[in-house]
Amino acid sequence: MSPHTALVLAFSILLSVPVIIILGPTVLIQSQLQLPFSPQDELDDLSLFTLASTFRHHAPPKPKPSRIFQFSYQTKPNPKIAFLFLTNTDIHFSPLWNLFFHDQPTKLYNIYIHKDPSVNLTRPVEGVFKNRFISSKKTARASPTLISAARRLLAHALLDDPENAYFALLSQNCIPLHSFPYVYRSLFFSPTFGSPESTRQTQTQTHRSFIEILTHAPRLWNRYIARGRFAMLPEVKFDDFRVGSQFFTLTRSHALLVVRDRALWRKFRNPCYKMDECYPEEHYFPTLLSMMDPEGCTNYTLTNVNWTGTRGGHPYSYKPQEVSVELISRLRESNLSESYLFARKFTPDCLQPLLYIAEMVIFKD
Ligand SMILES: *[C@@H]1O[C@H](CO)[C@@H](O)[C@H](O)[C@H]1NC(C)=O
Ligand SMILES: *[C@@H]1O[C@H](CO)[C@@H](O)[C@H](O)[C@H]1NC(C)=O
Ligand SMILES: *[C@@H]1O[C@H](CO)[C@@H](O)[C@H](O)[C@H]1NC(C)=O
Ligand SMILES: *[C@@H]1O[C@H](CO)[C@@H](O)[C@H](O)[C@H]1NC(C)=O
Repeated sequence: MSPHTALVLAFSILLSVPVIIILGPTVLIQSQLQLPFSPQDELDDLSLFTLASTFRHHAPPKPKPSRIFQFSYQTKPNPKIAFLFLTNTDIHFSPLWNLFFHDQPTKLYNIYIHKDPSVNLTRPVEGVFKNRFISSKKTARASPTLISAARRLLAHALLDDPENAYFALLSQNCIPLHSFPYVYRSLFFSPTFGSPESTRQTQTQTHRSFIEILTHAPRLWNRYIARGRFAMLPEVKFDDFRVGSQFFTLTRSHALLVVRDRALWRKFRNPCYKMDECYPEEHYFPTLLSMMDPEGCTNYTLTNVNWTGTRGGHPYSYKPQEVSVELISRLRESNLSESYLFARKFTPDCLQPLLYIAEMVIFKD
């Protein structure tokens, strides 16, 4: 090696140190900031959402004029509740949900399940969850994949049945707090539950969506700038940015609005550079709906979550020894609606104690 070559070598090694220091983190951040979607996934979703938004929603048959006043609600087709399960494990509480739906006419509900295809779960061979899986893609925390999964569920349910009128998003950790008839009556017929002016004759379109929409919350600014200081502009100003629970019950018109959205999705699909402030699904739905139709939302959810003593963004999980008659009645209590309808989270081993009190407590209302 000539002294000249040695000098060049030494110099380039010396030079590469700051280059690594300067570029290293950038390269690292960029590899973390890869979009979690392949272009193919994005295209698949786009064609599904386009199909669901342009789908001709055939009008319900009109009742005969002479009968409109007395019997209009009877002659309309039955509105259905679409129960949308978003899961990356077995649905631990399926025996409880089987009891919830037991003997209920299937013309009043549908079930759809989105399960992460990268996890191996036991396919239900019987019960209400059998053959209810929609075509799904991988999901991960702190990424917009949870938004996409919820939108896929909404799109499938919109396309599958024009009578789906309410769309309730749930997870494998959710349980019902009431019987199916109570839930159905509350959503469609109760004059006092949710929408104050709703009456038995009210069309479903005048019903509101039950989605938590909070304007002020600690760390909202940090969440807003998680993709960069100006990343959400111009579509979403900080004043428009909202937060709320991921678990909502949407009307059909709001479900359509969500699958039709392109503008906000282009913002929210971008990866965060601050991972500890990254919960896209807690912002996308409340922000979109409060921008598009604030009066059409109750601004609260029907799914009770216990955030006291939260750790690492996870709410409190109830343990088997806590399951009791008192717990169910405490979880139902709400200052906002007549009652919560669902609750989370419960550890999987709560199944037996929950089944034990199901008939006498949970489904007794
Ligand atoms: C998935 O689980 C089933 C049984 O539950 C098992 O037979 C199968 O080998 C598993 N597959 C993988 C890839 O782990
Ligand atoms: C829900 O909150 C929005 C603000 O985000 C407000 O404009 C609207 O009136 C509220 N809706 C109801 C039904 O109170
Ligand atoms: C919520 O969780 C806390 C523990 O973090 C517990 O002490 C409290 O009883 C729970 N609230 C309800 C309504 O069960
Ligand atoms: C209802 O509101 C009262 C008064 O603001 C409050 O003390 C109570 O904790 C609230 N209950 C629930 C279940 O949120």
